[in-house]
Amino acid sequence: MAQEDVFKKIVSHCKEYGFVFPSSDIYDGLGAVYDYGQNGVELKNNIKQYWWKSMVLLHDNIVGIDAAVFMHPTVWKASGHVDAFNDPLIDNRDSKKRYRADVLIEDQIGKYEEKIDKEVVKGRKRFKEAFDEAQFLATNGRVLELKEKRDALHARYAKAMKAMDLNELRQIILDEEIVCPISGTRNWTEVRQFNLMFKTEVGSTADGASTIYLRPETAQGIFVNYLNVQKTGRMKLPFGIAQIGKAFRNEIVARQFIFRMREFEQMEMQFFVKPGTEMEWFRQWKQTRMAWHLALGFGAENYRFHDHEKLAHYANAATDIEFHMPFGFKEVEGIHSRTDFDLKQHAKYSGKKIEYFDPENNQSYTPYVIETSIGVDRMFLSIMCHSYEEEQLEGGDVRTVLHLPAALAPVKLAVLPLVKKDGLPEKAQEIMQDLKFHFNCKYEEKDTIGKRYRRQDAIGTPYCITVDHDTLQDNTVTLRDRDTMEQHRVNISDLRSIIEDKVSLTSLLKKI
Ligand code: GAP
Repeated sequence: MAQEDVFKKIVSHCKEYGFVFPSSDIYDGLGAVYDYGQNGVELKNNIKQYWWKSMVLLHDNIVGIDAAVFMHPTVWKASGHVDAFNDPLIDNRDSKKRYRADVLIEDQIGKYEEKIDKEVVKGRKRFKEAFDEAQFLATNGRVLELKEKRDALHARYAKAMKAMDLNELRQIILDEEIVCPISGTRNWTEVRQFNLMFKTEVGSTADGASTIYLRPETAQGIFVNYLNVQKTGRMKLPFGIAQIGKAFRNEIVARQFIFRMREFEQMEMQFFVKPGTEMEWFRQWKQTRMAWHLALGFGAENYRFHDHEKLAHYANAATDIEFHMPFGFKEVEGIHSRTDFDLKQHAKYSGKKIEYFDPENNQSYTPYVIETSIGVDRMFLSIMCHSYEEEQLEGGDVRTVLHLPAALAPVKLAVLPLVKKDGLPEKAQEIMQDLKFHFNCKYEEKDTIGKRYRRQDAIGTPYCITVDHDTLQDNTVTLRDRDTMEQHRVNISDLRSIIEDKVSLTSLLKKI
């Protein structure tokens, strides 16, 4: 099945099984805004817990905060977001559609990549067993020509972005003969800068309302609380402040479901370090964060680092952790060395002294910062994409199963009476009442046992137990494993110990 079709199936699965709904669905949705349903919210909360505990529980020098979404407007002047948080926009005069100029060019680079991939497929077909991919890529004339075009475009694009040369971005679009996907024409406007922050007002207009912004990143809530936390927590460098919260960006190109949203959630940690040690910490946090991802068991081949060529206005080094989504390797997390930019800017704009007194050398200085920043929604999407499978069963049947990491699954155990009579529902409820205090259980009695198993597979429930007539005699149940579909008989009294260890966050945290 084409990857595009797989992705479409995942999107509809998310809706059908109560993971993600379009926002205001009965009004046909709102662009790039989504709601999480009954299963989605559980998965999302588990992701957040996994991150939060890995930061705050596993590091005795990291603490958490929860800052407000609304912040003093000067925060965004100081942080540079008012002046520099822009995307280059271009409109097509015929379709009246608006695009990000950088995205149009990146897509064009992607097209060269696709053409190279197609040549490889053709080569493999032609040369069969004798095909040597590395040699083919290094010598085939058509591939070399495409690579040259791709590299030249990439170099020109990177230079234009670095200088934010809007005329050159437009010229690249014209020279590459990029057409609007809707109108098919090249009737482009000039490229303009567009600020991504949402504006609103606090106070009524009568008493002089003032314009404020919905935060485009949670990080600034941490920077403005640096002194509060350092002093009240008597924190010593190096130390970190973690936060999970909503962020808002007026994204122009809202694509790929929950990958790029206008309202989303971030899990960010700012790690304050002594100046001069930041590159060492940057390397260390790259490894620590990658280990967090790898502990989920999705395979190292599905992750890669992508170092930034164009650095944000506050950074002296930056990398992305990219995950292999059905639409290619895409950024899930950013790790940035933010220097002392933010704290210095807030000191300048607020007039407050924002420094650290180092008792080791009796000196005061502004700490440097390493930031780890991951989108909850992108993490959610990567987990769904990797877990979704349409499994071919013996006999030609297909079952749709989510191989979610057990610790993140919305429901850990489904308790199913074989039939709705003979005291089986009562016995199943009794088991449920005991286990529900230890992990998330769901009771289901409607439909055949086979249908109920399939429903649980589709939401990723790692275990099901079936209560049957033997249960009433010997206090045993059938325990079924989601992934292997194997079933075996276990004592009710052993259920908690068998399941708890496998589904607990603790066991996942220990793998990091
Ligand atoms: N404080 C740094 C910062 O915000 P970023 O690279 O712009 O850096 C960090 O964002 C992460 O937030 C990204 O790696 C991504 O996971 C998530 N993110 C950013 N924009 C998003 C959007 N429009 N929709 C969903 N997630 C987004």
